[in-house]
Amino acid sequence: MSALRLLVLVLLFASFTGGSGETLREKAERIMSTTPVIDGHNDLPWQLLSQFNNKLSEVDLYNLNTTHTNIPKLKTGYVGGQFWAAYVPCETQNKDAVKRTLEQIDIVWRMCAKYPDVFACATTSTEIKQAFEKKKVASLIGVEGGHSMDSSLATLRMLYELGVRYMTLTHSCNTPWVDNWKVDTDQEAALSHGISPFGMKVILEMNRLGMIVDLAHVSVATMKDALATSKAPVIFSHSSAYSICQHRRNVPDEVLRMVKEKRGLVMVNFYNDYVSCNSKANLTQVADHFDHIKKIAGHEAVGFGGDYDGVPNVPEGLEDVSKYPDLVAELLSRNWSEEEVKGALALNLLRVFEAVEKVKNDLANTTAADEPISYEQIKGSCRTSYGYNDGGKSLHDLPTFPIISLLYILLILK
Ligand SMILES: *[C@@H]1O[C@H](CO)[C@@H](O)[C@H](O)[C@H]1NC(C)=O
Ligand SMILES: *[C@@H]1O[C@H](CO)[C@@H](O)[C@H](O)[C@H]1NC(C)=O
Ligand SMILES: *[C@@H]1O[C@H](CO)[C@@H](O)[C@H](O)[C@H]1NC(C)=O
Ligand SMILES: *[C@@H]1O[C@H](CO)[C@@H](O)[C@H](O)[C@H]1NC(C)=O
Ligand SMILES: [Zn+2]
Repeated sequence: MSALRLLVLVLLFASFTGGSGETLREKAERIMSTTPVIDGHNDLPWQLLSQFNNKLSEVDLYNLNTTHTNIPKLKTGYVGGQFWAAYVPCETQNKDAVKRTLEQIDIVWRMCAKYPDVFACATTSTEIKQAFEKKKVASLIGVEGGHSMDSSLATLRMLYELGVRYMTLTHSCNTPWVDNWKVDTDQEAALSHGISPFGMKVILEMNRLGMIVDLAHVSVATMKDALATSKAPVIFSHSSAYSICQHRRNVPDEVLRMVKEKRGLVMVNFYNDYVSCNSKANLTQVADHFDHIKKIAGHEAVGFGGDYDGVPNVPEGLEDVSKYPDLVAELLSRNWSEEEVKGALALNLLRVFEAVEKVKNDLANTTAADEPISYEQIKGSCRTSYGYNDGGKSLHDLPTFPIISLLYILLILK
């Protein structure tokens, strides 16, 4: 072999290994051993409900094999922080949404109690960092959908007390005060045309509490209203880039620019339908979303929001929560620097969370918002109307009074 050919081979090997004898996969693992991933959205609690009716005593999270998530996979994937979704379907709106949300919050706390060596329930940025040091999975709770607070600021505050640290303003349905992504398709009509005046109060109360505003699932008008209103940075806990796949669950470039300006975060969703706009997708295509968000909003606005156990299919190469290091290796191959990768893995989320905590701190001397939503906006068959201006009577009974009077008059006239 000529010296020149040898040199070329050495150079090729050096470029493959980053010049240190380390493969990109090894480099990814080295980075993640100190800066593990904080994922924005995982629906394991929903799987525990739908597969086991929340009987955690009957579940072995080490050997569970009917989910994307189990303990060995979390370890292999270097997952150091997870926002577990307290998700209840839109079908529960105006029914048992609040009770079912409490049950999903409860199962996360029970997971931490059952596996204290694995999970550390966390409610502050400091507790996330402490969990990193102990090599545990910092476990946070995100409520997925404003229907879970049933248009009640008091309920919102109590969700915070129970450890909830983000609320997605909607799932895939409008609430009485905020519109979801489906209004940008022909599937649902706009109601609030973004966020209603009551919804603005919800955002400001979340700021005051120190609860992160999550804009996954909302309409574009809602995204813009929230970005303009929130005093703290916002996140998209599991959304990808609209320019790469034109699905309305994804974030358009004009909004990505606002996210950059407000120092927020878009945590990339791995669901095939949002990655490739197709039932099939692969890891390379997910990396394209990372590159695009970085290009438009900057590397400080990128994060991971796999949506594992919340979606029916995930990309080739990202089959379960053990695969994050492969995606990190792909980003490194695309010349993401170590600092950029660390940001996407965890530091960007920590920065946003700390900013949210600072706003809470700055507002520590303000008092709770207590103007209820108008009864007109929430009346429905299951609700009483105590406290509204009707002496405690159920308001929707009132219309029967004029109807009876009318019948009486008709009877007399006859
Ligand atoms: C999954 O786990 C169940 C219960 O532990 C076991 O019976 C089954 O063989 C496992 N399936 C696979 C494919 O590993
Ligand atoms: C991923 O899918 C795209 C589009 O089908 C294809 O061009 C690309 O080569 C695939 N990547 C891998 C690693 O299979
Ligand atoms: C990464 O950087 C190297 C050296 O600067 C360059 O040759 C290569 O084309 C870059 N790759 C990508 C995907 O940008
Ligand atoms: C809140 O009020 C207390 C007592 O008046 C004061 O010591 C503290 O500095 C105030 N905090 C803020 C953030 O304004
Ligand atoms: Zn979702």
